[in-house]
Amino acid sequence: MCGIIGYIGVKSAGPILLDGLRKLEYRGYDSVGMATFEGSGITLKKDAGRIDDVAKRERLGDMQGNAGIGHTRWATHGGVTKENAHPHASCDGQIVVVHNGIIENYSELRAALAERGHFFRSQTDTEVVPHLLEEELRRGNGIEQAVRNVVKQLHGSFALLVLCSREPDKIVAARRESPLIIGLSDHGTFAASDATPFLGQTKHVAYLNDNEMAVLTRGGAAYFDFNGNPVRKEVAEITWKAEQATKGGHDYFMIKEILEEPSAMRNALLQDRKAFTEFAHEIASAKKAMVIACGTARHSAIIGKHLLDRVAGKQVEVMIASEFAYFADNLTPDTLVVCVSQSGETADVLDGVRKAKAKGCRVLSIVNVVGSTLSRLSDRAVYLNCGPEVCVAATKSFINQVTVFYLLAYAMRGAFDEGVTELTKVSELLLKAFELNDARAKAIAERFVKNGNAYYIGRGVNFAMALEGALKMKEISYVHAEGMPAGELKHGTLALIENGTPVFLLNPTDYTYYDTLSNGLETKARGAVLIGVGNKNNTAYDEFIELPEVPEIFYPLLEAVPLQLVAYYAAVARGRDPDRPRNLAKSVTVK
Ligand code: F6R
Repeated sequence: MCGIIGYIGVKSAGPILLDGLRKLEYRGYDSVGMATFEGSGITLKKDAGRIDDVAKRERLGDMQGNAGIGHTRWATHGGVTKENAHPHASCDGQIVVVHNGIIENYSELRAALAERGHFFRSQTDTEVVPHLLEEELRRGNGIEQAVRNVVKQLHGSFALLVLCSREPDKIVAARRESPLIIGLSDHGTFAASDATPFLGQTKHVAYLNDNEMAVLTRGGAAYFDFNGNPVRKEVAEITWKAEQATKGGHDYFMIKEILEEPSAMRNALLQDRKAFTEFAHEIASAKKAMVIACGTARHSAIIGKHLLDRVAGKQVEVMIASEFAYFADNLTPDTLVVCVSQSGETADVLDGVRKAKAKGCRVLSIVNVVGSTLSRLSDRAVYLNCGPEVCVAATKSFINQVTVFYLLAYAMRGAFDEGVTELTKVSELLLKAFELNDARAKAIAERFVKNGNAYYIGRGVNFAMALEGALKMKEISYVHAEGMPAGELKHGTLALIENGTPVFLLNPTDYTYYDTLSNGLETKARGAVLIGVGNKNNTAYDEFIELPEVPEIFYPLLEAVPLQLVAYYAAVARGRDPDRPRNLAKSVTVK
């Protein structure tokens, strides 16, 4: 939530920051702003609205100077207005700040600053920071010392970038709990919420840890803890390519990322056999294993729970990460915590990790972003290898999360190689599932364009797919959609089914087939339009989404493709932008 970027170097900062903000837009897109040092002072431009509109209006790309900071906002404190957009400035305009995170004690700080004569222009929590820094400078401190003194007064989470016109040859960066990566190129130095905005300029990065600062100059960066002690950093190399984070000729990232699923899935199988098997055995031998995740990642974990049970006989518990905290008091070191996350930056997951570690638990993670906070906090990690996922709605990362759970189940049985072989065959059928259903998904989405509700039902492992199908539908098309265990419908929700209500019945010919079919017929008897999703058609189905034949445990992977397509076309048919759904952001870095 919120993307920040800073650049200092020999090139013009305006176009570099603007290009970077476009790549960070998936983190927040309600307002945008930039500030650069233009020779005699700082120029600040910002407004509410989508980046392209604001950039055009404010001519952000033409901003002069070789040092600057930028921000794309996902509002937390204060409405979506020009005043609340970042950067925020001190009273005298000499200091500008961009921030990702939440400063929890901002109201006390703000009241005290106002009492001392500071004038506030916004309702944000962030604005206290430039004012506090201004006071530090008045006391005679340089900007680095000022940042050190101020961060000690802040409670909550922050990634901060600070530019000061008195010392325009540096940008000061500070981090606690919100992500911040330093990029080192031959023409200048970057800091950003993730590496995507500078991938085209450099692959060399350094990761800031909690309670660390970096001082960026044209020639590189120096790292310190909050007491000013130097910190040594390894420079890592990012393997992602810049073009992976572009639309590549498609209308939206979402459709491009759905089409990438077969190759992404094969990349998920490129695991080191020994390390992966050890990871699997650690889960298999844990006295108790709890999997924590949010949203789509949690749905993959529910599928994982079914697979580990059915294929390897291992029972695990799956918890919503934001609820896990309420069970943390009684955790004991013999509980293994397994986290699933695409970004590796989801605040609720990281909070769970910190609580689990405080109780002495070991933490494993299944994560996409190498070098993310989750991967660095975990005792062991396996990677999804699906490349950058830009669309806010998770698609290929879900396929890869589920794939990793399949492979874990095989590896627990000592059958890693067999798992790779079987899953490779399934990856080839993902394209077939796409081709069979692309036009059909569009027609179904258009048939129901006037419907405000949809139900997704399934049993066993298909129930998790019902949850995921419904989440995809609601988050990008804004249709109210509910995913339910098919058997649970008659205990209340059946009352909502009326003439014309679409019901997606997740019903391959697996161990759930006949019971699910009966539940589908119960909805049809009450007027539902039944959309069967499976490998076998039925006369009761009003629409049929056909899946290629696979051994029964693999159907969830194939179900995912048409369900994502239906949601995509439902969004497009309603004129929504599937890549940037309202109110949401990709990396949920606040609790
Ligand atoms: C839905 C979606 C979200 C994420 C959730 C967790 O399409 O993308 O529900 O799955 O915010 O994000 P990660 O996986 O980054 O922890």
